[in-house]
Amino acid sequence: MSAELTKLRRSIHTYPFKYSPFQADRFFGLQNGALYVHIPFCSTKCHFCDFTVYVNKTDDMREQYVQRLCTEIARFPEQHPMFPRFKIDAIYFGGGTPGLLSSEQLIRILQTCRQTYSINPGCEITIEFDPDSVSLEKALAVKEAGFTRVSVGVQSFNDDLLKQSNRPHTARSVHAAFETLRKVGFTNTNLDLIYPLPGLTMDVWMDSVQQALRLEPACISLYGLEVWPGTAFHNWLEKGKLKLPNASTEVEMYTAAVDALESEGFVARSTNGYVHPGRAEAYSRFLDYYWRTWPMLGFGVSSKSAYDDRLWANVKGLKDYIQRVDAGEPVVDLVAYMSKAQEMRRVMIRGLKACEVSKQEFLQRFGVEMESVFGDIIGRLVADGLLANEDARVCLTRKGRTFGTNVYEYFYTDEDRKPATQNEVQFGISHLVTTD
Ligand SMILES: C[S@@+](CC[C@H](N)C(=O)[O-])C[C@H]1O[C@@H](n2cnc3c(N)ncnc32)[C@H](O)[C@@H]1O
Ligand code: SF4
Repeated sequence: MSAELTKLRRSIHTYPFKYSPFQADRFFGLQNGALYVHIPFCSTKCHFCDFTVYVNKTDDMREQYVQRLCTEIARFPEQHPMFPRFKIDAIYFGGGTPGLLSSEQLIRILQTCRQTYSINPGCEITIEFDPDSVSLEKALAVKEAGFTRVSVGVQSFNDDLLKQSNRPHTARSVHAAFETLRKVGFTNTNLDLIYPLPGLTMDVWMDSVQQALRLEPACISLYGLEVWPGTAFHNWLEKGKLKLPNASTEVEMYTAAVDALESEGFVARSTNGYVHPGRAEAYSRFLDYYWRTWPMLGFGVSSKSAYDDRLWANVKGLKDYIQRVDAGEPVVDLVAYMSKAQEMRRVMIRGLKACEVSKQEFLQRFGVEMESVFGDIIGRLVADGLLANEDARVCLTRKGRTFGTNVYEYFYTDEDRKPATQNEVQFGISHLVTTD
């Protein structure tokens, strides 16, 4: 039976009905954000790599790209006035291998960021190098220009494995690179390792971990190998020519490496990122923006951006990118509008990639308690020993970090598991590769 309706002598002129006292800074102030700048050049294409990367490009082509990149950065606020300007907390030059550009080019790009955005004091500014691209001249120049953090892709200290993965360097150049970085005073350094590479044994892996520890970087990243379509490794896998250790050996490799890192004082800040608190304040402030799905603007080919309920990615092709910038057209290629439910799942999944999600931040962002939305999933993850449910946060257990990719699956919906429709593009999820 329907409720009896009466004409109420009460109208409404707004909704909701509860307002708070005005705080200018909080209400109208600029938001904090991070910038990502993609440099798509490398000296060789590694056999495992799926990043948007171009090899054998001339100096002239690199310069053409740098010019368009500066144009894109400088133009963004006027081309997209609906987006707030951000106060920048972190800038990340990633790639590819940004360290391959000349010092002058790197400084010009950083200057353009500084001229376009207001940069917070103490802004973290990271640049990625491969070991061979670290020279004394460049390390000094970028240090003086204000870069605060250097990340070096190492992958392994075994020259055979490096060669077989088509890496452009040897173990010796890794040692030389870190000596140079130390000489110019870079203390906030990160060193990337990959496990497993084809033929990697436990002994060789732990030797690499020990050599990495002896170089005393502030951070070490332990990347589990992802096999992406289009890479040489994927090609070999399909032909039955990729010999990888089985999944349980992979777990042993991760576990042994984490034991070694923790016994030297490193702590986990993501499923693969470890920081030594005596050497750096944070693992990577930029990656906090990236994983916690805070405002992030990406520039350059294939870069990704996130703001509130919107995600977007730039075109991948170098020529397409250059033509669009020259024509004054947007360089955005793909977008996603998230529903509130998707945004909440994204915050959980990506937050757990960075080990934990704060209940207070969740409440502030969405206006509902985390447990009222995800209570069931949290309960199952706790029961499976993958998650700890504390008063202020949920955080991955050691088992949860080891099996991080399984944890995210708990949050996927049936809709997420369906293939893309004709109007959509499958994006950002690698093929499931089992080697057992
Ligand atoms: C953009 S690269 C880093 C800088 C530089 N280009 C280099 O490789 O020396 C970022 C890191 O991603 C990791 N990476 C690349 N492809 C990967 C894959 N297929 N699986 C796991 N990690 C990968 C590598 O550890 C690499 O150092
Ligand atoms: S791993 Fe680094 S050096 Fe190798 S192709 Fe990818 S971006 Fe370039």
